[in-house]
Amino acid sequence: MDVVSAIQQRQSIRKFKEDMIPQELLDKILESATLAPSGKNKQPWKFYIVRGEKRAVMVAEMKKGMRRLDELGVKTGSARYTLRVLEQAPVTIFVFNPTSKHPLKKRDTLEVYQDLVDIQAIGAAIQNMCLTAVSLGLGSLWICDVFFGYEELCEWLGEKGEMVAALSLGYPDHSPVKRPRKPVSDISEYIE
Ligand SMILES: Cc1cc2nc3c(=O)[nH]c(=O)nc-3n(C[C@H](O)[C@H](O)[C@H](O)COP(=O)(O)O)c2cc1C
Repeated sequence: MDVVSAIQQRQSIRKFKEDMIPQELLDKILESATLAPSGKNKQPWKFYIVRGEKRAVMVAEMKKGMRRLDELGVKTGSARYTLRVLEQAPVTIFVFNPTSKHPLKKRDTLEVYQDLVDIQAIGAAIQNMCLTAVSLGLGSLWICDVFFGYEELCEWLGEKGEMVAALSLGYPDHSPVKRPRKPVSDISEYIE
């Protein structure tokens, strides 16, 4: 599959079959993440792959975080739907910037600039994984609702860096309606 077709076919998948992802395909997906560009080729990423029985622990940690926020009166909104995806997907990859400080810790300006560079590289790595998944017949969901269990999930994974996102992967079990996009003419302007 060419890259433009993969971009056109990619959609967020929120229902997955139970089938396990063969290791060979998972390797290809992770390899594609490492091929993303990064500022000064720093490769500022670390991936934790959660599968099998550990998925239940992941979901429990996320629920713990949501309860903590509920008690503080913070609305956790769509997170309960995302929880179902985390429960169901055979694989969820947590994506970290291991060199960034935990966002709740104080940072100086230069560190913030470096994080802005690194976050772009990490976004590219995640998109590479989404597109590779499509090309292999797999679906994916890019997830930031894991922030509702930020502290709990970081502690469980034993990672002191910054959690950026999670990516659930599996064989799609639905064909969602395509989400609309703003027309190019509305979001672009030629300066000439
Ligand atoms: C940074 C980012 C965070 C996202 N977080 C979530 C999430 O936590 N839960 C969810 O269901 N979808 C999440 N999504 C998926 C978006 O809702 C989805 O990409 C958007 O609605 C467009 O739909 P499409 O991906 O099918 O084109 C996220 C997407 C991105 C890029």
